[in-house]
Amino acid sequence: MKKIIDKINDLKKQKNAVILAHNYQRPEVQDIADHTGDSLGLSIQAAQTKADIILFCGVYFMAETAKILSPNKIVLIPDPDAGCPMADMITADQLRELKRQHPKAKVVCYVNSPAEVKAESDVCCTSANAVEILKKMFTEKDEILFVPDKYLGSYAAKKAKRNVITWNGYCPTHAKMLPDDILKLKALHPEAKVMVHPECPAPIIKLADEVLSTAGMLRYAKTNDAKEFIVVTEMGMIYPLKKENPEKEFYPVSDLAVCPNMKRVTLEKVLYSLENMVYKIELPHEIMSRAWGSINRMLEY
Ligand code: 13P
Ligand code: SF4
Repeated sequence: MKKIIDKINDLKKQKNAVILAHNYQRPEVQDIADHTGDSLGLSIQAAQTKADIILFCGVYFMAETAKILSPNKIVLIPDPDAGCPMADMITADQLRELKRQHPKAKVVCYVNSPAEVKAESDVCCTSANAVEILKKMFTEKDEILFVPDKYLGSYAAKKAKRNVITWNGYCPTHAKMLPDDILKLKALHPEAKVMVHPECPAPIIKLADEVLSTAGMLRYAKTNDAKEFIVVTEMGMIYPLKKENPEKEFYPVSDLAVCPNMKRVTLEKVLYSLENMVYKIELPHEIMSRAWGSINRMLEY
């Protein structure tokens, strides 16, 4: 393992590459990253980096977003099959049809979407800013199409008090979580705070002390006085939470809360990727520039 890590670090320096890793990545992958974070934080890193190469340890839409924000850089993903099933629940053709049915509506796309869908949208959002984007960019009178996540869309619409029509997409990992999982943990640890990701269904969100993006969970756990937390999102979150707060306890909502796609990236694949400069994210220029518009509108806010 040490040998692989040394090789990755040498190549990173030689090639002026930066490694970005999502908070759900395997612990050893998070540890070799220059920056870890949520979708919003990593997008900002991708837009600002001075490196020539961005190696993105995450799922495909995240690497695509990095490419859109840094079109002149080489963006690599160590496993091109690391997709996000929710992102693949809508196509650009389906969104165009939905827009035809609602000609006056504005489109908000969750960042978990293909580049072609972002290109058809007015503004992008992440789990960290969906409520704010709806509140600040739209009025109560606007008709808003929110794609693809029905759970995040409904949660944000309710919080922002906006008129939203959601697409029927969802995250299979977060949809598996049950209210009973939380109630059982709460019975065992009555003092624990419940942190919930907004990709969860409404009955789960009802049980939350706080609804947060993955980076939001890290901030909350650090600054809150509580000593115990029930973590209602993908299991990978336990690692950075515990690393930053060794004196606190974190209970994963369920052993089933695993995103298999996030776990496809391994150190071996990271090394192979840097050695062979694979797998490059390539997108048509026209799609990138339109998708950039919707992402950039989010970043401006
Ligand atoms: P965050 O942006 O909150 O890290 O979420 C990304 C994601 O895919 C959650 O399933
Ligand atoms: Fe997609 Fe869900 Fe995996 Fe996040 S946890 S990448 S939304 S499948």
